Amino acid sequence: MEKKPYPICCLGAGYVGVPTMAVICEKNPDIKATVFDVDEKRIAAWKSENLPFYEPDLEDIIKAKRDKSLFFSTDAEKSINEADLIYICVGTPTKTTGIGAGMGTNLTYIESTARMIAKYSKTNKIIVEKSTVPVQTSSYLEKVLKANAQPNVTFEILSNPEFMAEGSAIRDLRKPDRVVIGGKDTESAQKAIEILKKIYCWVDDKQIVTTNLFSSELIKLTANAFLAQRVSSINAIAEVAEVTGANVHEIARGIGLDSRIGPKFLGAGIGFGGSCFQKDLFNLIYLCEWFNLKEVVAYWKQVVIMNDHQRKRFVMKILNKMFNNITSKKISVLGFAFKKDTSDTRESPAIYISDYLIKEGAHLSIYDPKATKETILRDLQALTPNVNLEKQVTVVSNAQDSIKESHAILILTDWDEFKELNLAETYKIMEKPAYIFDGRNVIDQKEARKIGFETYSVGTPLIYNSD
Ligand code: NAD
Ligand code: UDX
Repeated sequence: MEKKPYPICCLGAGYVGVPTMAVICEKNPDIKATVFDVDEKRIAAWKSENLPFYEPDLEDIIKAKRDKSLFFSTDAEKSINEADLIYICVGTPTKTTGIGAGMGTNLTYIESTARMIAKYSKTNKIIVEKSTVPVQTSSYLEKVLKANAQPNVTFEILSNPEFMAEGSAIRDLRKPDRVVIGGKDTESAQKAIEILKKIYCWVDDKQIVTTNLFSSELIKLTANAFLAQRVSSINAIAEVAEVTGANVHEIARGIGLDSRIGPKFLGAGIGFGGSCFQKDLFNLIYLCEWFNLKEVVAYWKQVVIMNDHQRKRFVMKILNKMFNNITSKKISVLGFAFKKDTSDTRESPAIYISDYLIKEGAHLSIYDPKATKETILRDLQALTPNVNLEKQVTVVSNAQDSIKESHAILILTDWDEFKELNLAETYKIMEKPAYIFDGRNVIDQKEARKIGFETYSVGTPLIYNSD
């Protein structure tokens, strides 16, 4: 980092790129970061008062650093050429067509960044692969960069996967458990690693793990696979708990105190959502299929199967309890984001659960504190292109409107405000019998039942649910 300020650039102004650059600028007064995106609307939003998505504390940093050390741009050539180090933070979604559709990773955006970097770079650059990618993508990146580089321009590629979670992105970036940096065993790569380490100046050296490039890429896939596996494991136990009279939350506490297991990611519910877990499991599974590792493929596939099953099982509980008849009934859907404290709905369990209910003829009244009406309707329409959603779905701006005159409440996101629902008042404004289906362990079931509700909460004994 000889130049001051040290110029860096980030390709991709999304959930990873912007929070990462924001915290780097917050912690590092000697850095000037430019975030470039091909999506002009997104860049315009980052420059405006209405940021493209909600992430706690992000807005404060943007306001403090924007146009001082943090810049947003649609000028690829300038952004790339001026930077000494370039982060790649573009999307790596699951392929939707062609060979490997529904499983393999679509590397179009990654490759497009490599071609742009090669085209516009007039000086040597360090390229930091932050997107989550199939193992060996760094080699592919190198090939495309080398083949298209301008004379005498060289690139040093590092892998530096991101482990932040949405809803706590800023907290995670400010205080990461670890930073992983993968690079080659050459002198120039080691020099580049030292520069990248300096960018993470607020992270203790002991928490910086350096590896070879492919290990670093596989660490990211493995971390998400393990986390997703824990959620599916506890959801599998939730089903056993329900039929045997055990309580999954007591079980989670009982096993979580074992220091070898730990208490985190043992929350049973309607399964994991979000743009990462399923996509990255598919990424790993496809990679293993490619190398013909049949048993490994079957092992990780089961995590996804269990997750799909958990969503469907929740819907079956609703139908069973409501006499298999929800046609034309108003159902209150509380929460649509894939978890609390984010406006992101990508792969949210709420999408799939709502879709099942729409197909059963229910009328959904959906409320989420942060997910927008436009996003919710877009997500649902994508699954049912031929259904006139206006007839069956209303998106409202508060919980009260959603609940009023409904037959059942479904809690599909763990937003704090749902924990504070006044159950007695809620009961009064609903049709009877009044049901609560708690997919996120938010409601005090005992209290709800005392008031008169019929309740179901994932992983609690059926024996209590039906009394
Ligand atoms: P995102 O969809 O929010 O953002 C990606 C952005 O890249 C989009 O705005 C898109 O327009 C832009 N883009 C596409 N091609 C481009 C190009 N050639 N140049 C510049 N911009 C371009 O995605 P995200 O959620 O930020 O995820 C990015 C990557 O980080 C993915 O690989 C993802 O798996 C990984 N990741 C995501 C999270 C998360 O919580 N979202 C966490 C860790 C890792
Ligand atoms: C995940 C990883 O946690 C993060 O390290 C990685 O960088 C990106 O992917 P994210 O998807 O943003 O982060 O959120 P996370 O908190 O992991 O939750 C994922 C899903 O699992 C959510 O739908 C959440 O509700 C669900 N979940 C999580 C459970 O159902 N139970 C739990 O105990 C924990």
